[in-house]
Amino acid sequence: MKIVIASDHGGFELKQHIMTYLNELGHEYTDLGCFDAASMDYPDIAFPAAEAVASGEYERGILICGTGIGVSICANKVIGVRCALCGDVLSAELTRLHNDSNMLAMGGRIIGVETAKAIVRAWLGTEFLGGRHARRLAKIAAYEAAEDGLPEM
Ligand code: RB5
Repeated sequence: MKIVIASDHGGFELKQHIMTYLNELGHEYTDLGCFDAASMDYPDIAFPAAEAVASGEYERGILICGTGIGVSICANKVIGVRCALCGDVLSAELTRLHNDSNMLAMGGRIIGVETAKAIVRAWLGTEFLGGRHARRLAKIAAYEAAEDGLPEM
């Protein structure tokens, strides 16, 4: 699975732990920054990472900022991205089962390293259920494709 990962300064430290963990799990990834803990603007890393997932270049993306909120707001503005902000393992499993989320956001100032690793493991290891959940995702895609307001659903 091709994974892209990115963080701002608020998520920099947790991202280092997550990249080490991805190595341990045997996953390949590309780090789009930031590359040190200096203050920077999260849209500068969240949009490129989300575009890289939306384009199909990467199958999944992991975003980390201080809260996970800023990066998830950015990512979910990119058509085709379904970014789930998770602070617990059950949400990580359910967002894969029900939302087929292709991006995971976490808050480096909110959750601990072990919780974040457990979230990543669950999120990467859980498959989409399909069925009625696919119908719901199709409605999201129809909304994204509509040029003017709510489409017929
Ligand atoms: C940066 O200070 C902080 O605002 C950012 O990491 C994030 O929490 C925004 O949502």
